[in-house]
Amino acid sequence: MSYQVTFLPQGKQVECSAHESLLEASLRCGINTAYSCANGSCGDCKARLLMGSTQAIQHTDFRFKESEKNQDWFLLCSYAPTSDCTIEIQETNSAETIPQQEIQLKFSKLKIVENRIAILTARAPRSKTLRFLAGQFVDLFFEDFDAIRVPVASCPCNGMIIEFHLDVLSKHPAVTALISSIVSGQSIKLRGPFGAYHINENPERDLLFIAVDNGFAPIRSMLEHVLALELPHKIQLIWIASENYPHYYDNICRSWADAFDQLSYQALYTQAVDDLQKSCKQLFKQALVDFAATDIYLAATADNINCIQAALSYKNIQAGQVLITQVSE
Ligand code: FES
Repeated sequence: MSYQVTFLPQGKQVECSAHESLLEASLRCGINTAYSCANGSCGDCKARLLMGSTQAIQHTDFRFKESEKNQDWFLLCSYAPTSDCTIEIQETNSAETIPQQEIQLKFSKLKIVENRIAILTARAPRSKTLRFLAGQFVDLFFEDFDAIRVPVASCPCNGMIIEFHLDVLSKHPAVTALISSIVSGQSIKLRGPFGAYHINENPERDLLFIAVDNGFAPIRSMLEHVLALELPHKIQLIWIASENYPHYYDNICRSWADAFDQLSYQALYTQAVDDLQKSCKQLFKQALVDFAATDIYLAATADNINCIQAALSYKNIQAGQVLITQVSE
C-alpha cells in the first residue's frame, strides 16, 4: 500500500509505501533532508506531522521533549506513512551544515570500461550511510596509501550504495593498488564530504551541464539530483571527451535523454588537446544551446576549466552564471 506524502516547505509530493521510511522517500524526491544515523538515535531527522498518520518501522532510542511530542514531532528515519500525509521537514542546502563523516565502506564491484575508467561501487553500513550533497568529494583510504580525493559519482538520494570513477592511467599509487588488488568485501575507509554545493534548486533559467572527460563523475551526481527534483526547466548535458578519453557512460546518458522529456544530451569529441579553447569554440557552435539563457554547471580539470570559460566568453555569459567543480587529472 502506498500513500501520497507532501513535504513542506518545498511542497514536493512523492508516493511512499507503508514499509519505506519517510527519510528514504524524501531523499528519493531530491530533498537534501537533514539526518545522520538513520537508525533512530541522533534526532537529526526530526520532522513535524501536519496532517495524516504514521507508524514506527524500527526501534528508536532518541527521546523527544513532552512539548515536541505534543506538537507531533517524529523521526523521519523510523516512521512510514499509514495514510496520505503532509510533513514539515528540515532541509540542509549548504555544504557547511553537512557533518564530516568517517565510514568503513565495503567494496562490492569494480568494472573497467574501455581500459580507461574503473567504476568502483562500495557499500556503506545501513546504520551509517554517507550524507553528502550532489557534486561533493570524499577522501578514500585504501590499505596504507595516501588518500585519494574523488568526487562521488552517484546520487545523494542513496548514501548506502556509492559509486566512484577512477582513471586506470592514474599515477596515484593508491588508485593503481586498488584497481589491481581489491577483493570482494575489502574495506575502504571514507572521510568527507568536501567541496561546495552549487545547485540552485529554484532556478530562473534552464540548466546546462558541461562535463569534460572525468568531470562527468560529479556531473552525474548533480544531474541525478536535479532529475529527482522534477524541475519544469529544460536540462542539457554536454559531455566533451578529449582524444583517448571514452564517453564511458554514453548509454546511460542516452537512456536518461529517452526517459526524461526535458533532458537532452550531446556527446562531443575534441581532437585538439593542445588547443581545447579553440576546439570548444567550434564545438559550442554545433551545440544546440542558448548558452545565455542557462545556468551552467561545469566540471573539468583546472586547465580545461580555463579553456571552456574562454570558449564560453563568446556566448554572452553573465558573471556568476557558470558554476564550477574542479576535478583532478
Ligand atoms: S537520522 Fe538519526 S534519528 Fe533519524
